[in-house]
Amino acid sequence: MNPQQDEDLDRIIKASLYTREIIKKLMIFSRQMPQQIVSVNLNTIISDILYFIEVRFQSKEIKIRERLDPNLPNIQADAVQMSQVLVNLITNAIHALPSGGEIIISTKQKGKSVLLLVKDNGIGMSGAIQKKIFKPFFTTKEVGQGTGLGLSVVQGIIESHKGKIAVTSTSGKGSQFQITIPIKQSKS
Ligand SMILES: Nc1ncnc2c1ncn2[C@@H]1O[C@H](COP(=O)(O)OP(=O)(O)O)[C@@H](O)[C@H]1O
Ligand SMILES: [Mg+2]
Repeated sequence: MNPQQDEDLDRIIKASLYTREIIKKLMIFSRQMPQQIVSVNLNTIISDILYFIEVRFQSKEIKIRERLDPNLPNIQADAVQMSQVLVNLITNAIHALPSGGEIIISTKQKGKSVLLLVKDNGIGMSGAIQKKIFKPFFTTKEVGQGTGLGLSVVQGIIESHKGKIAVTSTSGKGSQFQITIPIKQSKS
């Protein structure tokens, strides 16, 4: 083996050990937390989350705007998981705004579903990147900065609530994540 191969092999081994650790943690985490479906209002969850993470923007030039539908109906959902969805999307939006900007979080009713939008005017993504973002371990961030699990966790949570997630983004302009969750879940 030449030195390059030796180094590559070493990196592959380290990467798989790291991956194994993350998967182990995720599995422990998901087993300890069975879904607790209750009647929740997304507006309340959004306000609670923003209250908790407010400190994080005070030093940065990031404005967060809430455009919450005051008549938003409740959904049947796991409140902790919905909070996780919001934290992951907002964290990504903050990462996409290295020199500041705006994040708009909005909710509204659309037919028999509730719509949640998280929009930022940050760095955006190319079409090629957009195709991969929901894949586990896909990240464009430095080692130690991102695990590439945020959006796959979000997608898993939304799908377990019979919902859908979509993204629209333009490089250099910003991104918008769109989530729809049925108000009444059909029995499965
Ligand atoms: N709001 C956003 N703006 C620009 N790129 C984003 C945004 N959200 C996600 N991405 C892209 O999707 C990738 C995967 O996101 P995620 O699954 O949360 O993993 P991580 O944040 O650990 O990289 C990110 O590395 C980034 O390239
Ligand atoms: Mg992330």
